[in-house]
Amino acid sequence: MFDTLSATPLDPILSLMAEFRADRRERKIDLGVGVYQDDSGATPVMAAVRSAEAQLYATEQSKTYQGIAGNPAFGEVMLAQLFGADNPLLASDRARFISTPGGSGALRLGGELLRRANPQAQLLVGTPTWPNHIPLLGSAGLPMVEYNYLNSARSAVDMDALQAALQAAKPGDVVLLHGCCHNPSGVDLSAAQWLQIVELCERGGLIPFVDVAYLGLGEGLAADGAPLRLLAERLPEFIVASSCSKNFGLYRERTGGLAIVAQSASAVERAANQAMAQARQIWSMPPAHGADIVATLLADRALAAQWRDELEAVRQRIVAMRQLLVERANGNRAGIDFSAIIEQRGMFSFLGISPAQVVALREQHGVYMIDSTRVNLAGINSHNIDHLSEALYAVLV
Ligand code: LMR
Repeated sequence: MFDTLSATPLDPILSLMAEFRADRRERKIDLGVGVYQDDSGATPVMAAVRSAEAQLYATEQSKTYQGIAGNPAFGEVMLAQLFGADNPLLASDRARFISTPGGSGALRLGGELLRRANPQAQLLVGTPTWPNHIPLLGSAGLPMVEYNYLNSARSAVDMDALQAALQAAKPGDVVLLHGCCHNPSGVDLSAAQWLQIVELCERGGLIPFVDVAYLGLGEGLAADGAPLRLLAERLPEFIVASSCSKNFGLYRERTGGLAIVAQSASAVERAANQAMAQARQIWSMPPAHGADIVATLLADRALAAQWRDELEAVRQRIVAMRQLLVERANGNRAGIDFSAIIEQRGMFSFLGISPAQVVALREQHGVYMIDSTRVNLAGINSHNIDHLSEALYAVLV
């Protein structure tokens, strides 16, 4: 039976990751997959995460199932982190959190829930977007309408295209938005642009579906959460796919969840019930270890403070690497000005070089980035910046 299958291309980020690992050159540089690296190129376990994990090992009594929504304590701390513990949304019982296998699980579950709630709903997707958004959400059966998220120079949001797409949508349609740290461009919506989007959603009866995979890595935890608090204040219904992969460094633990916000406690109860029925059909119960770590960590004041400091250090290092790259790459022979990278936020930006230059960097210099020219700024460090700028100098002619 399986001989009838032909091979299918893997996601470009994952195939690049495999190619990088197989490269035997010592001076290779990984600017591909969105994983944080410190100045030595390592992806360490955060100290607060390690301590929470040790507490968990010392106190955990059982590995029995926690239920389809996962650890309730995890749900509580995640809602508090997304919206603020004192948000009236939480007091009015209009939000529920369902633990999922990572942010990808939350996206898939959100897609399934939306399709059941409104089979006619279309999903508005600003492109470019995370390369897996379209196949992942498409597999939940949501028809998609794409619009240009960026202007032609890929340096700012194309607000005209975004507004036109939202104005053309019909009530009940869904708008996929990146909460902060736009992947792949690093070009985030400003506070004024969020306000415009909220007004268009209010007027048009549109439902935001916010992907929040980098909370804390843009402008810091409080500022990055501001759009979510705005949505909570103004809109009756929306959903949020959240991930703990990057901000807690829990990548392989597959930790995240879907936050559902509805007009009333009874409506959110029914939506959560439908989402749990879907989860049962797809993965049954969510993984627990990462979620238990986050619940333990955030419930402990000292560990939570330590984690916030560590996260802020991660954020600042990425900001510093943006600066360093621009300083070192701007003198290139092609005269390309990379300065916009300094204004962008999160792990990624586009280099905006040609496809042939991407290949030359990889083949001749061991510098890996995906074909779109998206680079993970956290892959740059004080030991590889010379090699990186020399390689750029060599290929940019
Ligand atoms: C990325 O965009 O590189 C990360 O979100 C990792 C992934 O799963 O694609």
